[in-house]
Amino acid sequence: MVHVNIFDTTLRDGEQSPGVNLNQLEKLEIARQLERFGVDIMEAGFPASSQGDFEGVRAIARTIKNASVTGLARATKSDIDIAWDALKDAQEPRLHIFLATSPIHMKYKLMKTPEEVTQLAIDMVSYARRKFPHVEWSAEDGSRTDLDFLCRIIEKVIDAGATVINIPDTVGYATPEEYGRIFRYVREHVPNIHKVTLSAHCHDDLGMAVANSLAAIENGATQVEGTINGIGERAGNASLEEIAVAMSIRKDQYPYTTNLVLKEIKRTSDLVSRFTGMVVPANKAVVGKNAFAHESGIHQDGVLKHASTYEIITPELVGVSSNDLVLGKHSGRHAFKDKIEQMGFQLSSEKLNEAFTSFKQLTDRKKEVTDEDLFTILTDIQTNI
Ligand code: KIV
Ligand code: ZN
Repeated sequence: MVHVNIFDTTLRDGEQSPGVNLNQLEKLEIARQLERFGVDIMEAGFPASSQGDFEGVRAIARTIKNASVTGLARATKSDIDIAWDALKDAQEPRLHIFLATSPIHMKYKLMKTPEEVTQLAIDMVSYARRKFPHVEWSAEDGSRTDLDFLCRIIEKVIDAGATVINIPDTVGYATPEEYGRIFRYVREHVPNIHKVTLSAHCHDDLGMAVANSLAAIENGATQVEGTINGIGERAGNASLEEIAVAMSIRKDQYPYTTNLVLKEIKRTSDLVSRFTGMVVPANKAVVGKNAFAHESGIHQDGVLKHASTYEIITPELVGVSSNDLVLGKHSGRHAFKDKIEQMGFQLSSEKLNEAFTSFKQLTDRKKEVTDEDLFTILTDIQTNI
């Protein structure tokens, strides 16, 4: 089966959501949770955009061991140098350079000719490859780019050393049929395309980001980019949890593998919502409060007779199990430590004491302490200075 890499950009494109501003500890905690969720690549930020972002990316690069950490850069030497300083200590440092290729962006934003844009892309990708083992190049506004120009520039950028080519639907304008066709065309018309990973990156302006991402995968993309809860610029990015679940339960349609641990979905969604302040709508697919609720009598009756009548996703698949009782007021420190390690947390003895005290306090107020309660305690402790 073909493997699809999951590229999470919650901490970069997601953080570009109006009103969202994560501090360094919050970013780090989300990064740790993304690692547990099993993403292959996480875009930790845009190091040249601010000192805070630089420090956040550097902290994540130094902490995360089981995912490749990347940062965004414009096509300038100084952005690339700053990104290298932030990312050089990562297990697998990776750079993401973007440059617009659509007629609208080249004319009005960059004020450059297609030839100038091509040369700049080549120069900056080869400059970046002197430092970074992996360089992703994004043709910004790729879905509104002339297809033959797109193929020509991609071919040259691959020759310059790009290891991943991303064709974003930057403004969320494409339809699934169109977006899929772009990927098919590029695969058929760029002679050296087999040397790189082809990536999809979709925005949700017309509510088609997930469908477009899946269409790209069906047409040869082997990396998909998105965010948790679909947060991001304007109407947001493709929701990774929706893509992940669609790929998991519709294997007949999407025969691909990923490294994702689906039972981490709910926790990841809750954490991102709590730290960003972006409430998940109740009817949101996969993670909304009502995603598994059945209101009408007919549906309730059906589900009681057999869950599969109206439930295509089991709550357990995505880690919704509020009755997953784990520890109570008689549980000791040892059991507590075992449990939190099973949940993927490694705390210093000082933080462990703090967490244990909070847990004990909670058992005085609440009879049943669930995994969700523990997760809240642990992530709060990690982000308290
Ligand atoms: O949507 C977009 O085009 C982007 C690029 C930076 C890849 O986020
Ligand atoms: Zn984007």
